[in-house]
Amino acid sequence: MKANLNSKVTLLGGGPGDPELITVKGVRALKRAKVILYDALISRELLSYAPNAKKVYVGKRRGYHSRSQNEINELIVKYAFEYGNVVRLKGGDPFIFGRGAEEIDYIESFGIETEVVSGISSSMAVPASQGISLTKRGVSESFWVITGTTSSKKLSNDVYLAAQSTATIVILMGMSKLKEIVAIFKKFKKGNVPTAIIQNGTTENEKLGLGTISTIEDVVVQKDLSSPAIIVIGEVVKESTKLRSFYENIYVESSKHQNIFI
Ligand SMILES: C[S@@+](CC[C@H](N)C(=O)[O-])C[C@H]1O[C@@H](n2cnc3c(N)ncnc32)[C@H](O)[C@@H]1O
Repeated sequence: MKANLNSKVTLLGGGPGDPELITVKGVRALKRAKVILYDALISRELLSYAPNAKKVYVGKRRGYHSRSQNEINELIVKYAFEYGNVVRLKGGDPFIFGRGAEEIDYIESFGIETEVVSGISSSMAVPASQGISLTKRGVSESFWVITGTTSSKKLSNDVYLAAQSTATIVILMGMSKLKEIVAIFKKFKKGNVPTAIIQNGTTENEKLGLGTISTIEDVVVQKDLSSPAIIVIGEVVKESTKLRSFYENIYVESSKHQNIFI
């Protein structure tokens, strides 16, 4: 196969879910696309910017056959050769746990030009949609974005380090590791730290669970929360004007009984 002169692949961040949270540059790239290969967490409304483009779903859904990363890479290159202008549309930002760098390495090895158009990552936009300021002045001096599930399917060791810090912790792909995450934070005496879980954030299917490290597993069961979700751990959670009253209430309730913040 030989790249034609017009072959170009744009890795485009589609934002966290709300179709309005895409960049102007992203919309322009979609309008020019001949082929769009898109992931599961993409708002389908974004595809309407390219009514004439060929649309290829390459997402991974639990219980369905999903394409391997190698198959996806090969498809991108095949379409770039055949159609020229390809958009690889990804959830959030392509470089935040999006395997964007791997795709670029593969595509460029065929001499095909690539461009990255950043997207608004769910790691920031989903907490923001609940009024959580990850670095609220006077409360948090940094935030960590960590994957709950590494390439070897294990919990990232960074969670141990993060649990010892005063940073706000944002965990993606962490729902199946929640028990381990809670155990680590408890080990470092962080049972009282406010914790929020936001599923399908910024979409009409959004679900929210609030609690502390000590209570969050029960909250997940009560509210039937599952992936895709973001876990936010830190004092900034209870500082949100949207969430503050929840924490004021549980403080009052628990102080009636034991004078402790559950
Ligand atoms: C493979 S990562 C991709 C992250 C993406 N590149 C980004 O910047 O948002 C997928 C994980 O992101 C999180 N995620 C993405 N969109 C989300 C949303 N709308 N609500 C909650 N979590 C989301 C979930 O933890 C999900 O399992």
